[in-house]
Amino acid sequence: MKHSYYSKMKLFAVLSVFFLSILRSNCQVITTASNQITGKYTIPESPEWVKKAVFYQIYPQTYYDSNGDGIGDLQGIIMKLDYIKSLGVDAIWLNPFFESPFCDAGYDVSDYYKVAPRYGSNDDAKRLFDEAHKRGMKVIFDYVISYSSIEHPWFQASAKQETNKYTNWYIWNDNTWLNVPKEYQDAFIKGYGRRNGQYMRNFYYCQPALNFGFALPDTNYKWQLPTNHPDIIAMREELKKMLRFWMDMGADGFRADMAGALVKTANVQGNEQFFNTHEDATKKFWQEIREIFRKDYPQAFMVSEWSYPKDALQNCFHADFFHWFDGYNDLFQKESWRILNGYSEGHSFFDVEGKGNIKNFLDKYMEQYTPTKDKGYICLPLGNHDNARLGNKRSDVDLEIIYAFGLTMPGTPFLYYGNEIGMRQLPTSWPQVEGAYRPRNGARTPMQWSTAANLGFSTANAEKLYLPVDTAKDAPNVASEEKNPNSLLNKTRRLIALKHTEPALANYAEFIPLFAKENTYPFIYARAKDKNVVLVLLNPSGKNTTAEFELNIPYSKTVLLAGKDLKLVKKGNKITVNMIGQSYSIIRLE
Ligand code: NOJ
Ligand code: CA
Repeated sequence: MKHSYYSKMKLFAVLSVFFLSILRSNCQVITTASNQITGKYTIPESPEWVKKAVFYQIYPQTYYDSNGDGIGDLQGIIMKLDYIKSLGVDAIWLNPFFESPFCDAGYDVSDYYKVAPRYGSNDDAKRLFDEAHKRGMKVIFDYVISYSSIEHPWFQASAKQETNKYTNWYIWNDNTWLNVPKEYQDAFIKGYGRRNGQYMRNFYYCQPALNFGFALPDTNYKWQLPTNHPDIIAMREELKKMLRFWMDMGADGFRADMAGALVKTANVQGNEQFFNTHEDATKKFWQEIREIFRKDYPQAFMVSEWSYPKDALQNCFHADFFHWFDGYNDLFQKESWRILNGYSEGHSFFDVEGKGNIKNFLDKYMEQYTPTKDKGYICLPLGNHDNARLGNKRSDVDLEIIYAFGLTMPGTPFLYYGNEIGMRQLPTSWPQVEGAYRPRNGARTPMQWSTAANLGFSTANAEKLYLPVDTAKDAPNVASEEKNPNSLLNKTRRLIALKHTEPALANYAEFIPLFAKENTYPFIYARAKDKNVVLVLLNPSGKNTTAEFELNIPYSKTVLLAGKDLKLVKKGNKITVNMIGQSYSIIRLE
């Protein structure tokens, strides 16, 4: 039978409706499924104490100066341990404290076995570990091994004309005049020492890359050694020995600097060479360290500066910082005036202007979180020494909303010293000491303890300070905030405390975004562990806003844990909320 044109159209219409309805029902299934709170979770392998841990990051040179020379020191940190404990944090990450010429503020290590005299002695480091332990806190140190200082004796020997034990410990080509392969062009420095060749840096010129070899050595370049070359193995063993030295002294683990940038590859170029080369051979090194930890330091923690959890959590680290990616900037520092490195434009989600886009963050985050949530933790740092302060033109109210976010997301939160009192980003005109080019210089200034001279940081003359203190009349300080129960300091303490009292906020508990739309506020998500469910609702914008979302679990009562009291209007499984500008609510469902 021949179909008329009309009947063909009818058939087409019927079929289209049929397929569309299948499509739509599938879409609905997908949307609802991704919003389902199940309370299920897998706990990644990690020491017990890490599961709910909050870390506090301390920059030793600017925390507290105990001997009046203008530079913070280990004894100074020991003197402040009771304060640190009072924040409710579980552990400290200490930036490098090793002997160094301080071309990159101590990241350039010249003796891996010795505390820099300006910070004290190895005995002070041991006392710091012991005193922290007495107070029930842990201390992790900075393991900086993708390069050493140019002044390290290994590099000095490697730069010699004569072949010696250290010749291959760094990456040198074999001809000062020859162009290096273009993938590495940015990284080679020529004209150092008597050795005929150029060395590869891993960051500044003063940070020559230790030689972990090349994933696929180019046979045209004999100097590209394979990763299993005996000299490379010897170097790696020495780095393991050094790790054991600090662990045996009492450290509770480490943060690995530039962890993804050990083994070299031609597959990635430019900045990627410094962060993530996706090389299995790099992972293999960290997997060996993880094995050492499993066997000999089962209570210790390893976290990487890798910023690619899909690599870093592959049986390498317990946790990975996820901040060298655009999604992190979308949260806090999208505006070029905020990031101050001149490369960014746009709007942060956490900004009173309310022009940000949470989806930019969330899509990138989920891409990493979903495949790794049973393997390890993602850390979204609440500030650090490389970025502008979160308090860069933000009020305490803005910051509190940011901390409500950071302390309720999955993973291991890290709070940068001084952010608990709302320390501000200081002007780019501040001295750029020790490689602290903007915005780093404005984020590394001395901790503000009181209204005393130098804001209580040091008794030295102001011009002797490592960096000048904030000169604003209303510069925040600990002593004043201690007295005010509603200060940012005390509110931050209360938010930190929730990590320990709410099972649903455990670092591994389930994370379900409930309301996250393009260019829209608020951002709403649930955290859940078994029957414990916490909702987090965040509206950093200055405007009132309404949101409707589905909630698939029954509850009879809501308990406000922090922030503004908020009414959840329930109709079937749909919830509507009206949030006022610059507000947040953390709510337990019972
Ligand atoms: C990351 C560190 O956090 C930063 O301060 C340092 O300059 C680079 N790595 C190089 O180590
Ligand atoms: Ca000092």
